[in-house]
Amino acid sequence: MNSSPWWKEATIYQIYPRSFFDSNGDGEGDLPGITSKLDYVKSLGVDAIWLSPFYTSPNKDGGYDVANPRDVDPRFGNLEDARELITQAHKRDLRVIADIVPNHFSDQHEWFQAALKSKRGSKERERFHFYDANEDGTPPNNWISLFGGPSWTQVEDGQFYLHLFDSTQPDLNWENPEVNADFEKTLRFWIDLGVDGFRIDVAHGLIKEDVLTNHPDPQGLSNALRLDVAMDSEERNALLLTVPYFDRQGVHEIYRKWRKLFDSYTGREIMAVAEAWVHPPVNATRYVRADELHQVFNFDLLTAEFDSDVLFDVVERSISLNATVNALPTWALSNHDSPRVASRIGDEQARALALFVFGLPGSAYVFAGQELGLPDGQLQDSDRQDPTFFRTNGAIKGRDGARVPLPWSGDTTPFGFSTAKPWLPISQSWKDLTIENELADPKSSLHLYKNALELRKEFLVGAGGITWLESSQHGHKNDSLLSYSRGSITVVMNLSDSAKECDAAGKLIIVSGGTVDARDGKKVIPARSTAWFLT
Ligand code: NOJ
Repeated sequence: MNSSPWWKEATIYQIYPRSFFDSNGDGEGDLPGITSKLDYVKSLGVDAIWLSPFYTSPNKDGGYDVANPRDVDPRFGNLEDARELITQAHKRDLRVIADIVPNHFSDQHEWFQAALKSKRGSKERERFHFYDANEDGTPPNNWISLFGGPSWTQVEDGQFYLHLFDSTQPDLNWENPEVNADFEKTLRFWIDLGVDGFRIDVAHGLIKEDVLTNHPDPQGLSNALRLDVAMDSEERNALLLTVPYFDRQGVHEIYRKWRKLFDSYTGREIMAVAEAWVHPPVNATRYVRADELHQVFNFDLLTAEFDSDVLFDVVERSISLNATVNALPTWALSNHDSPRVASRIGDEQARALALFVFGLPGSAYVFAGQELGLPDGQLQDSDRQDPTFFRTNGAIKGRDGARVPLPWSGDTTPFGFSTAKPWLPISQSWKDLTIENELADPKSSLHLYKNALELRKEFLVGAGGITWLESSQHGHKNDSLLSYSRGSITVVMNLSDSAKECDAAGKLIIVSGGTVDARDGKKVIPARSTAWFLT
């Protein structure tokens, strides 16, 4: 396997199992489907896969509504398939990261079913957040769910339970030691089955305080938490400082315990990465203190404009904040919750940004399909499945666009993904974006990713920090070049719509698009493109 610790500057490929490859012709991807495509994954040059949830689930929130965290949903296969996937990944020197969902269970989990059948104040209800209604019959507080609508649902005897997400996702009460014990059992279960790490869903949300206190502006807060709602950034940041249910100190105690559990597996290098949307950004570093988790996602690049000032700030801040706790940053341009980067900033820009990011220190996360330059799928409302769409009565379209299955081969939709009708339609317009097609085209996005990841491994992993070049220009909006050197490589990104000269020394080894020319001893970087030079 790779040099120790394996995760530090790994490239991690996120697989949304339902959308990767369907091995049994039911229109949905599954674990044997992933196993059958591991050679492709390996050929990308990534070090690990992160699997979004494949556990037993009624699938009201794409599997993030877990009914049994220690079993596989039959739609995805069974535990034997999970074991085989891990074995086959390890044979190819690929690590496996599982997604753990500790903030909530599905309402179909046996604990919640038992809570529904039990009395108020019972130990079954104590595992969740059950409270009586206010005297006027209203819910215990005015919080709004992150998927829209109230955060509370009433049960037959009049009590309400808290759900920060869908009503089918009751929040767990982490003050209850049984909850902690059950999750430790789950962590051990998957480590014993062979996984190498965990992505922790809603890692910042486990501890709730002030549950009986109203928020002064619940709708404003709800908007501030939504990436798809435009808002003045000062207003948003001020509201984000007031979230009553995220980033409480108590979460860190949980992760300190988990860290001990991970470290007790000597010789295994078990890692964990936190999904923690916290504000101000410095708070994220608390999750990666030496006795807590290994990585925390930096989500800034999921929303950042393709602008030199913005990108300079995001990169600089993330590197320097992480350095304060001796951690390295993470970089992600797309995931299953956000619009695909090619749709958000444009195809050429997305390639340029990927090549820019692959040079940086830390771990790079790549969402399956990103390597192909896939845009968001175009969907009819009747295709949509995301609870956000339903809970907002269609006002917010939701995240299905990023979750459309991968096009593998052939000229006709569903492009080899399945022999049946896929769970979300794949547009015929993706004909040129299939893996088969891109493999045959040396100028494709797929080849860019493969080449870049190979060069990253050869020249950049472990190469230390970056030195910004052209830094005097970052302050000017019109400035088009963003450039740094790291080890023996100089990375130059031209963000503008016209070719730009730069002084970078060295030999061109990769460019994200177009051709780099030489003029009067200078290099000319094509519009919306990034180039690496080796000295
Ligand atoms: C974050 C996950 O990435 C998202 O898909 C899910 O809906 C929420 N957490 C709730 O689990």
